[in-house]
Amino acid sequence: MSIYRTNTCGELRLSDAGKQVTLSGWLQKGRDLGGMTFIDLRDRYGITQLAFNMESNAALCEQARKLGREFVLKISGTVKERENKNLQIATGEIEIVVGELVVLNEAKTPPFTIEDNTDGGDDLRMKYRYLDLRRTPVRNNIMLRHKMAQQTRAYLDAQDFTEVETPVLIKSTPEGARDFVVPSRMNPGQFYALPQSPQTFKQLLMVAGLDRYYQIVKCFRDEDLRADRQPEFTQIDCEMSFVEQEDVLNMFEGLVKHLFKNVKGLDMQSVPRMTYADAMKYYGSDKPDIRFDMKFVELNATENNVVSGKNFKVFDDAELVVAINAKGCAGYTRKQLDELTDFVKRPQVGATGLVYARVNEDASIKSSADKFYDETALQAWAKACGAEANDLILILAGQADKIRKAMNELRLEMGTRMGLRDKDTYSCLWVLDFPLLEFNEEENRYFAMHHPFTSPKPEDVELLDKGELGSVRANAYDLVINGVEVGGGSVRIFNKDLQAKMFGILGFTPEQAQSQFGFLMNAFEFGAPPHAGIAFGFDRLCSLFGGENSIRDFIAFPKNNSGRDVMIDGPSEIDQKQLDELHIALKK
Ligand code: AMO
Repeated sequence: MSIYRTNTCGELRLSDAGKQVTLSGWLQKGRDLGGMTFIDLRDRYGITQLAFNMESNAALCEQARKLGREFVLKISGTVKERENKNLQIATGEIEIVVGELVVLNEAKTPPFTIEDNTDGGDDLRMKYRYLDLRRTPVRNNIMLRHKMAQQTRAYLDAQDFTEVETPVLIKSTPEGARDFVVPSRMNPGQFYALPQSPQTFKQLLMVAGLDRYYQIVKCFRDEDLRADRQPEFTQIDCEMSFVEQEDVLNMFEGLVKHLFKNVKGLDMQSVPRMTYADAMKYYGSDKPDIRFDMKFVELNATENNVVSGKNFKVFDDAELVVAINAKGCAGYTRKQLDELTDFVKRPQVGATGLVYARVNEDASIKSSADKFYDETALQAWAKACGAEANDLILILAGQADKIRKAMNELRLEMGTRMGLRDKDTYSCLWVLDFPLLEFNEEENRYFAMHHPFTSPKPEDVELLDKGELGSVRANAYDLVINGVEVGGGSVRIFNKDLQAKMFGILGFTPEQAQSQFGFLMNAFEFGAPPHAGIAFGFDRLCSLFGGENSIRDFIAFPKNNSGRDVMIDGPSEIDQKQLDELHIALKK
């Protein structure tokens, strides 16, 4: 038995009354009621109330009164039924009548309260992250992450996947996000790169015959940070041989179902599928939140144009006029509609204005554009949108891509306002058939939308040959949950010539392709099997399961939005000697 404890602070119940116990933990809170002093003692497992009685043990009670928050204590005493029970906590029916108290360590007053709701701001909590982690909600997130990792391993192990570690010091490649680089002391002027993902290594493991690989692995990307992005983050990275897309989708739908079942106790239905083209057309996003419907309706579609030719320039000149139907929202006030107009005009959203039409109780329609559209014309809008009495039609018009993006934002905003985005409801979706290539105006060339190892759909290879690069679809897929891109993958190119062609399309000369990716193309000459894979953003998956938007609270020691760890104060300068050893001269 440990000298520090017989039980944890989350363990004792009414059935333990009368027992002699020893507990250790941190002093969360003390209450001095004159004759009695109470202390909440906390450890990882919970909180137990300690009672000190002035009458029966004045000296000990005096000592208890003087203790500060976060002191580390060891106590021994007797479990007793409480007079004032607290049914909110598991140990709330008992308290410990303390007979012996040892202060194991004192503590400075913490810079913020270490309770479920804290007064600490983000920066302070990050600086003292080890104190933040003492708080139950944050600790629960880290425990959830642990459980997710365990369950991921259990599922993949049962499916015969082998966990293999791939190197962290690798080589910089020009595709993808910016690399973090590490200077090599032994190779002056040369740099390693940290992996943005183990992509090429997992493909080499397939050439090596591993057949089914996975790794829960750190990845590094030097990109602008947001709530769902960290410079170092974790993937569940997977690859399989002798499979086609369908096999991968089924295998990893299985993983997602396993996680929902074993971590959240939820039975997931089979995951619906949508093409990228439909996702863009109906939701204006490659990661639609399908917890709610509110699909886009194109009001100037060739087959059913209900807006053009009425002298309303905004609609007549627009490449796309697109509407959503906010069911039951006809009662929105002028102020609410103004708010929505301001919302769509924000630079991040980018629309120039908002047109609306209310369907009244008696089915008549009132629109902000009724100078141009009579009742019959407006009824045609309602019909196209499936709008009925009390519905509100919201319309944006402009250049197609831009307006789809703006309408996506408006749809999500309306979903939030209408309470349709409940964090405890989960809607998964496979988005399929992504374009293979994406044109970059600035650089005036095509980039791989997923990565350069993704194979085109066989039926679209012809388009590649014809130079219709923008129309080629890839065997690439994303898993989206509640509008968050949780994972992405593809069927890979495993033919050396096709891979060489792909590098050519991406603007590499054969020499450049050989010097950057020769190791992979050479490997493809030694019997590469057909293979495909996927990687899940593990931090994102954890934050979704935990019902939060930010991945930061699911990472024990995260970086802030400037990529800094404010606790250890990194990155930092290094001394001249280190710079010299690394052959680095800093620009003055
Ligand atoms: P991809 O680049 O789509 O694919 O990444 C896979 C998943 O990783 C998550 N993710 C991130 N999470 C947190 N912070 C970031 N900065 C970040 N960047 C990406 C996302 C994303 O869906 N090698 C390929 C996978 C493959 O083809 O098998 C890859 O890395 O959830």
